[in-house]
Amino acid sequence: MKCTLLSLLSLVALGSAVPLKRAHGPSDADILNYALTLEHLEDTFYREALQQYNLTSFLASNYTNETYTRVQQISADESSHVSFLTSALTAAGAKPVEACTYDFGYTDVASFLATASVLEGVGVSAYLGAAADIMSKTYLTAAGSILTVEARHSSYVRNTVGQLPFPAPFDNPLGLNEVYTLAAQFIKSCPETNAPLPVKAFPALAASSADPMIQVGSKVMLALNGVVIEGTVYAAFITVAGPVFVDVTKADGGFEVTVPEGIAGQSYVVLTSCNGTATDDTIVAGPAIVEVSA
Ligand SMILES: *[C@@H]1O[C@H](CO)[C@@H](O)[C@H](O)[C@H]1NC(C)=O
Ligand SMILES: *[C@@H]1O[C@H](CO)[C@@H](O)[C@H](O)[C@H]1NC(C)=O
Ligand SMILES: *[C@@H]1O[C@H](CO)[C@@H](O)[C@H](O)[C@H]1NC(C)=O
Ligand SMILES: *[C@@H]1O[C@H](CO)[C@@H](O)[C@H](O)[C@H]1NC(C)=O
Repeated sequence: MKCTLLSLLSLVALGSAVPLKRAHGPSDADILNYALTLEHLEDTFYREALQQYNLTSFLASNYTNETYTRVQQISADESSHVSFLTSALTAAGAKPVEACTYDFGYTDVASFLATASVLEGVGVSAYLGAAADIMSKTYLTAAGSILTVEARHSSYVRNTVGQLPFPAPFDNPLGLNEVYTLAAQFIKSCPETNAPLPVKAFPALAASSADPMIQVGSKVMLALNGVVIEGTVYAAFITVAGPVFVDVTKADGGFEVTVPEGIAGQSYVVLTSCNGTATDDTIVAGPAIVEVSA
């Protein structure tokens, strides 16, 4: 696979020549439908869980009355996001996607909240990563106003499940295909009437560790679920300052990596075919989600 190395300097030099209107890449309607795809997922996630677990269930699992009320508020926010994006797409003459069916895999209130923490974090990373692709300033502000609320949901849920509410000074942006790879793992099927999004899923990657609390220096196993990858492989932790590459050790069913310095909170690691870039052209699997404790 092609392995292009662009220095930061040459990227900065190119910056001034980048046109405002791209010839390629997703349209704003594509981005809004991508956001709506994620909001449908979150909205269904909370509504289904609240049909299953009531206040008594939360109290029986040692969560408070307040947590139950906050989760109800989060659920209402996600429904509002779905309505807002649906209206915005309709007003723009585009066809909004509808909800899919999902399998979230939680089995009790605690595992539901653990999944909520992951999903809110992915939501933040998705809006953050999509921001640079949005061309209309109006849509950018609207997406930003959703992003900040998702970040507050994330902080609240993280704190509730015993994680640091804001574990790092910067959040990690994820690209469309990276987010879709994570979302696809929860999606069972979508209505055929949904227009296909310009996204693809990479092979799934699952992280696990013998360390109960993963920290910098912890060894993490990245399992490929049967997919075989040929050739040299690197791992890259995605950060706002760019990918942090680490060497991998081949292991049974995947690769082992060591969490590098500077990684904290909900982090994402992909396998790449080169150690210079981690883009759609070089990612061969993932992201896997790794929660790194301070
Ligand atoms: C929660 O559901 C259980 C089982 O259906 C029921 O016994 C209980 O009264 C409900 N609690 C609340 C607060 O509605
Ligand atoms: C809730 O807390 C009580 C008292 O500490 C404990 O006995 C019980 O096992 C806990 N229940 C759950 C579901 O964690
Ligand atoms: C939960 O909190 C609300 C608001 O403070 C209160 O009205 C309600 O009685 C509480 N319910 C329980 C079961 O503690
Ligand atoms: C990247 O890979 C090349 C070739 O395997 C190697 O020479 C170089 O040291 C690597 N760079 C990093 C930062 O790992």
